[in-house]
Amino acid sequence: MLDTQITPYGTDHPEQLMDQFYQAGNEMLLNLRNFVTSPNNRKKSRTWGATDAAKMIGVSAPTFRKLQESKSIPGILIEETSNGRKIKKYTLEAINTLRNIAGTRYKRPVGSKTLTIAVSNLKGGVGKTETAVDLGKKAAIEGLRSLLLDFDAQGTATLISSGLIPDLELNYEDTITNTLISDLNNIKNIILKTHFDGFDIIPANLAIQDCDLMLPNEKVNNVERLGSPFLRLAESLKLIKNQYDIIVIDCGPNLGLLTLNAIIACDGMIIPIPPSMNDYSSFIMYTATLRNMFRELSSKKLDYLRILLSKHTGSNEALQMENMMREQFGRYILSNHMCETVEVSKAANEIGTIYDVSRPRGSREAYRRAVQHLDDVNMEIINNFKDIWKSQAKSTTTIGDAVHG
Ligand SMILES: Nc1ncnc2c1ncn2[C@@H]1O[C@H](COP(=O)(O)OP(=O)(O)O)[C@@H](O)[C@H]1O
Ligand SMILES: [Mg+2]
Repeated sequence: MLDTQITPYGTDHPEQLMDQFYQAGNEMLLNLRNFVTSPNNRKKSRTWGATDAAKMIGVSAPTFRKLQESKSIPGILIEETSNGRKIKKYTLEAINTLRNIAGTRYKRPVGSKTLTIAVSNLKGGVGKTETAVDLGKKAAIEGLRSLLLDFDAQGTATLISSGLIPDLELNYEDTITNTLISDLNNIKNIILKTHFDGFDIIPANLAIQDCDLMLPNEKVNNVERLGSPFLRLAESLKLIKNQYDIIVIDCGPNLGLLTLNAIIACDGMIIPIPPSMNDYSSFIMYTATLRNMFRELSSKKLDYLRILLSKHTGSNEALQMENMMREQFGRYILSNHMCETVEVSKAANEIGTIYDVSRPRGSREAYRRAVQHLDDVNMEIINNFKDIWKSQAKSTTTIGDAVHG
């Protein structure tokens, strides 16, 4: 460590010290990632047992067995139980293949549109990333095709979705930066498949800070060639939208041009707010900012807007706050809330989310309850989306120009 004897409570060399922290920190993240993903340093697909897999596919046990006879199915693993019995385990790839064969995979109705959802709040630490990643993964588990855009330079969504260390294992070109600043078509090249079949990401690292610096600067933002710097994401998403049912954007805790691009491009917003006075008052500030922004975007409509009570501790104070918020925001608050649980933080410490865990380390019952809570939140959102798609399909068929896009 530098200069402890010279400046015992500070440093004369902040730059070198931060660089030391940065290098050592990334190395530690890498070691941790390698430890939890050993032996091949890549996150493994989680698996489900036969009973759960048949349920997810929506078929009976005999049909489930028959489906597997028809052809070889990728993603079926053989695992040994503690008493030496060999059993089949199913990854999402196998389950989706079987869903396709059985014709039970969810298909958006013709005439419905991909929903782009910005998960946003001006405050950090309120559960935006957890919400965005879990929604993307749960949608994939349900057989939907989901894409997560990491729009926070801290890259947490990237880390817990892919296991890649943002600043070590991703380059500038792997992020959205070049797409938004110089080549909208490039969005097709930066989509990363994850270990979750049907859940792709566009990753982030510190490089995306350049978007907030360069997009407002007319000398470097290529405005003549690419048009308004506010519309870049909306334009580039048009090129890939039809590959997905939902696109979730994990916004950073700011209102720079990246977040503005996300809000302009989105069809809907989810705003996570922990039920506490500080988080509530910070959200009220955010509503003023959003109000001023929507004033400038007078034609903007939101097909979806929901507040999610996140990181709910269940304490009396939180319950009181919840009641007050429900009274105030009415139908704009999701009925289900996201509980703060040890299981979610355990999964985060292992560089993932609760949906990555096939075999819980602690109490099976506590894990089951934690998943149930998250499932309730995410299924409420996904069912809302399915309602929206149904009504979009109805209105296009009445108009008579049904398109699937
Ligand atoms: N339901 C939850 N239970 C326990 N910890 C949570 C839960 N949701 C989020 N966290 C933790 O709280 C912290 C902030 O959450 P995060 O999603 O990163 O917030 P944001 O993206 O708004 O900054 C993270 O350490 C995350 O693991
Ligand atoms: Mg975040």
